[in-house]
Amino acid sequence: MAKTGKIQIKAFGIERYDEMRAVWENAGLSCKPKGRDSKKEISKQIEASPDLFIGAFDGEKMIGVCIATDDGRRGWINRLAVLPEYRGKGAAKKIVTACEKSLRKRGRKIFCAQIEGKNEKSLALFAAAGYKVHNDIIYVTKRESNEI
Ligand SMILES: CC(C)(COP(=O)(O)OP(=O)(O)OC[C@H]1O[C@@H](n2cnc3c(N)ncnc32)[C@H](O)[C@@H]1OP(=O)(O)O)[C@@H](O)C(=O)NCCC(=O)NCCS
Repeated sequence: MAKTGKIQIKAFGIERYDEMRAVWENAGLSCKPKGRDSKKEISKQIEASPDLFIGAFDGEKMIGVCIATDDGRRGWINRLAVLPEYRGKGAAKKIVTACEKSLRKRGRKIFCAQIEGKNEKSLALFAAAGYKVHNDIIYVTKRESNEI
């Protein structure tokens, strides 16, 4: 496990794009590099919502990340990941709290996340953060392409 200083939670800009991708990759989280997670798309998203791209930092090093989204009705927690060597220190919980704070400022009062498969760590984290599991909801999508 990494020896850390104080973990700082803050919004980040497009200059951190490669680091963000590296955190996802090292955390084993898949993304859509040719679609909504491409540098071009993320750049547009950050420009539109600079308050919703939240990272956790050990000094200058990004060790955790999340993209929150605001659909005007609900706030969503997306692409949350923490580097393996920094887990179990409360970083994800702090990131989620910061995302909720930004979303609350925008008037959102419902916070949600989609958890793929049987992701016990993620389920445990969201339970610890006060989220309720809905076993009666089925996620459906219609996609123009599998890469977006
Ligand atoms: C899920 C993930 C983000 C958690 O990050 P983390 O920084 O280790 O989580 P935290 O330290 O903030 O944990 C917060 C709480 O979640 C629970 N939790 C987290 N990891 C856990 C684990 N491995 N086992 C049991 N409980 C766990 C605990 O209740 C913990 O609170 P506590 O330490 O006060 O008991 C991290 O494991 C990860 O990056 N996983 C791979 C990517 C992923 O699956 N992302 C989620 C997509 S929906």
